[in-house]
Order: sequence, then C-alpha cells, then structure tokens
Amino acid sequence: MITINEHYLKLQASYLFSNIAKRVNTFQEQNPDKEIIRLGIGDVTRALPAACTEAFHKAIDEMATDASFRGYGPEQGYDFLRNAIAENDFQSRGADISADEIFVSDGAKCDTGNIQELFTTDIKVAIPDPVYPVYLDTNVMAGRTGTYEDGRYRGVIYLDSTKENNYVPSLPKEVPDLIYLCFPNNPTGSTITKAELKTWVDYARENKALILFDAAYEAFIRDESLPKSIYEIEGAKEVAIEFRSFSKNAGFTGTRCAYTVVPKECAGFDSNGNKQLIHPLWNRRHCTKFNGVSYPVQRAAEAVYSEAGKNQTRALVAGYLKNADLIATEIKKLGFDFVGGDNSPYIWIQGNRDSWEFFDMLLNKAGVVCTPGAGFGKCGEGYIRLSAFNSYENVEKAMKRIKEAL
Ligand code: MLT
Repeated sequence: MITINEHYLKLQASYLFSNIAKRVNTFQEQNPDKEIIRLGIGDVTRALPAACTEAFHKAIDEMATDASFRGYGPEQGYDFLRNAIAENDFQSRGADISADEIFVSDGAKCDTGNIQELFTTDIKVAIPDPVYPVYLDTNVMAGRTGTYEDGRYRGVIYLDSTKENNYVPSLPKEVPDLIYLCFPNNPTGSTITKAELKTWVDYARENKALILFDAAYEAFIRDESLPKSIYEIEGAKEVAIEFRSFSKNAGFTGTRCAYTVVPKECAGFDSNGNKQLIHPLWNRRHCTKFNGVSYPVQRAAEAVYSEAGKNQTRALVAGYLKNADLIATEIKKLGFDFVGGDNSPYIWIQGNRDSWEFFDMLLNKAGVVCTPGAGFGKCGEGYIRLSAFNSYENVEKAMKRIKEAL
C-alpha cells in the first residue's frame, strides 16, 4: 500500500495565488467584456531589458553549432555569472561574498522551499505573519507543524508584523532554531534598518539559530541607508543564508533565474552539538537534485551586470516605483493607512473590512485585482496588498476606478 505524506492534508485547500487566479478567471468568464487590471500577484509586465535579450539570442546561436554547443553545465552555475553576482551584488557594497558561495537556481521560491530539507523536522521555526506563503507551506509539508487551527498552524512561532511594530517583527519570547525574514517585505513592503537587522543577526548568533533572509526585492530600495543584503551586517555570514532573484529587478518571472548565497562559515549543528557547515550540504543537495539553469538564461542574467544592463534594469525598477508612488498618493488621498511603496513594489493597505470582502468588491465594482491580506496570515486580516507591477497607464486607470468604486 502506498501511503501518503499526511502533512499535506494539513495544508489549506489551495495555494493563495492559484485561488485568486481561479476567482479572477470565473469573474472574467461571467463578465467577458469587463477589462480587468491586475495589481494582485507580483508578476512583472514589462519586457526583458534589451541587454538580456541580446545576450539570450547570442547564447542560443552558440547552442546552434557543434563547436560552441554546451551540454550539462555546472550545477551551481557558470563562473561567468557567479563572478558577476559576487562582484556587483556583494563586494561592491562591502559584503565579503565569494563566487563559490553562490548557487544559481531557477527561482527563489524553489530555493526558500527546498533549503529547509537540510534541517531536522523537530526544529522550532519562526515565521513572520503576514508572510509569503511558501515559507509556511513548505514547513507544513515537511511535518514541522501541527494542525491548522483558528488561522494558524500549531507549533510555529509566529512573528507578528503589525502597525504597532512598524511591520518589523520583534524578537520572539520562545527561542526558534530557524528564522525567516524578508526585506523589503513581501507582502507589506516594509523595510528593515541596519540596526534592526543587526539585532536579529546577534540574536541568531547567541541562540545558535539560522536566518533565512529573502532579499528578492532589494533592487527597489531607494533609501541608501537601508541594507540590501544581510551580509552588510557584521557576523551575518555565520548565521544567514540569503535568497535573491532576477525576477523582479530584470523581469525574469517567466525566464527563471535566481540564486542563493550560502557562506562557507555558515553552520548548523548535528545531534551531538557539533558544528556542521551548511555549504557542503547544500552543494550536495544541489548537485543531486538539480542540473543547473540553462546556459542561455545564465548569459541573459549575466547581462544584467553589463553597463547597459545596469541602466536598463534601473529604468525598469524606476518605472515600477513610479507606479508605487502613484498608488501610495491615491490611497493616501482616499484616507487609508498604508505602508510600503517607497522602497518596495508593494503597498499594504489597511482596508478596515474583511480582506476577501474588499478583494471581491474591488474585482466586482472596479475590475481591479488585489491580493487579500488574510491570504498571507492572520495579521493580514483587514488588509489588502496592491502591487505596482503593471503599466503606468493601467495603474492610473485602476486608481481612478478604485476611487469611483469606493
Ligand atoms: C507575490 O505576489 O507575492 C509574488 O509574486 C510571489 C512570488 O514571487 O512567487
């Protein structure tokens, strides 16, 4: 008899964004003439930077002749990309990360989900609320939680991110072993200062804990005093793994390329309390279960770091931030409390009503898709998230329609 992993049965019926897509599709079927503007899922809408598509084309041409064709590449990523990442994303900001600490992959979603496979199921996990659902669901799948009761899984240490703490969680009462942090935050768009992040790094060091730091939205940071990487904080290399993506800065959501940084000194502990380095373990996992990102995609990602690529990605991000400014301005005029949008593509709005009800109202009356805050956790109830990933014209139109609907 084939028995199943019953932890899957604890999961909520469907993944948040699949649930929303289903509701939107049903609405569109019932209202075929209604033009829907999507400010829900954080999916980019603008074309890849020209530097990337040129590099992509060139690499595909290389694959077309035997002399330059490439088969399996290194699982961890080609040196040309790992070197460009280390130099541009870390060393240039004073973070001492080397190319061989970078593992290129096809997505930060997969990496944040897969990394927890390295740790035992009896560890205590601290997860922010509201949160990107992948961190929580993958721990449920692994059996690190109890059942779902009253909007929360038993056994998880929830890190409430609320208006009271400026959407930056405080240190928990119960000491966790694994801590998830994401800044600029998804879904709230809030940011963390260097001093606040240092508190978490020091705490992890004192408690032999590990931080999983999701920095997928770092490109949206305009305030230069804010940390773009956790490795800008002293001591972080011992206790933190960082996740990055080309999805949001360079429009790779459909192209797929990301990376994870596992510093050589980053360690966990075995059952005897002996230090075990994580780098060789993640390397072993990566080589066993992954065959690398395709060569043309890695060449396209490398082009993000060329002079033209840097200018073009900066312009892409600036365009989305202009949308975020517009959303924030209009939401303020409507009298709502909100956070985010200044160093983030997300605006987290206190709607003062049930968040799914707000979602349905905006869809039905304005034809605008948002993401209901409750889908990100109990603390998200009463909130909605608007994403700036769309054209300026559509954002303008959406905000006008929202104003009319309200
Ligand atoms: C979101 O809308 O939260 C993001 O698109 C999720 C993701 O990047 O997977």
